[in-house]
Amino acid sequence: MMTSQSQAKEKLHHVTSVVTEPEDNVKFYDEWAETFDENQISSGYNGPVKSASILSSYLPNTDARILDFACGTGRVAGELSKLGYRNIDGLDASQKSLDVAARKDIMNELICVWVDDKTIKIASDCYDGLICVGGFVPGHLHSDCFDEWIRIVKPGGVIVNVLRQQWLDEYEPYANNQLEDDMKQKERSMKWELIQRGNFDGGDQQWKMAVFIHKVL
Ligand SMILES: C[S@@+](CC[C@H](N)C(=O)[O-])C[C@H]1O[C@@H](n2cnc3c(N)ncnc32)[C@H](O)[C@@H]1O
Repeated sequence: MMTSQSQAKEKLHHVTSVVTEPEDNVKFYDEWAETFDENQISSGYNGPVKSASILSSYLPNTDARILDFACGTGRVAGELSKLGYRNIDGLDASQKSLDVAARKDIMNELICVWVDDKTIKIASDCYDGLICVGGFVPGHLHSDCFDEWIRIVKPGGVIVNVLRQQWLDEYEPYANNQLEDDMKQKERSMKWELIQRGNFDGGDQQWKMAVFIHKVL
């Protein structure tokens, strides 16, 4: 019988190698929603804990309004909530994941939308911070959402983007510095500035995480 840990690995393999269309991605996460937390925790992955801690070091005001982007079942928001943050919204394409998040009662507004290059129905300059953990995965988000991130976060606000180093190295639309070049392009356009870029261990060897922290200008 499959353990919860091996289920998590199998799911990750499936979504990154088989699922290509947005509707299949949504269906995949809808079907995984109820066991997502259990699978992720048993896999040893601690990205949400470390990522929430990173955001808090750049945005210590616990009244800050934060958007957990690609929030899924709200694991990152849950960690932010433990740190005292109470003003968190969540956005994700999977309604069933948002339903799980809603039961935790840690976020205010929950926005269900598939994000691409289109404008999201969120007012400009309304967040002090945005955190996206595990949203940049093959077939998930692309750099075309950066303009929207910059639009909805206030000038001076902080954007934390955490993804697996492996996808930066191997996934065609991100690899060969493409994702980083798209970030740098926004720097050259004076839309945001990079305040930190680093790596952390997300739980075991397969979870080397890359983190980018930008300040909106
Ligand atoms: C690996 S999960 C990460 C969830 C959560 N951030 C966490 O750390 O537990 C990726 C999430 O991104 C969402 N997602 C993928 N592509 C998306 C898109 N284009 N627009 C909105 N959400 C998307 C999925 O529904 C899924 O919940």
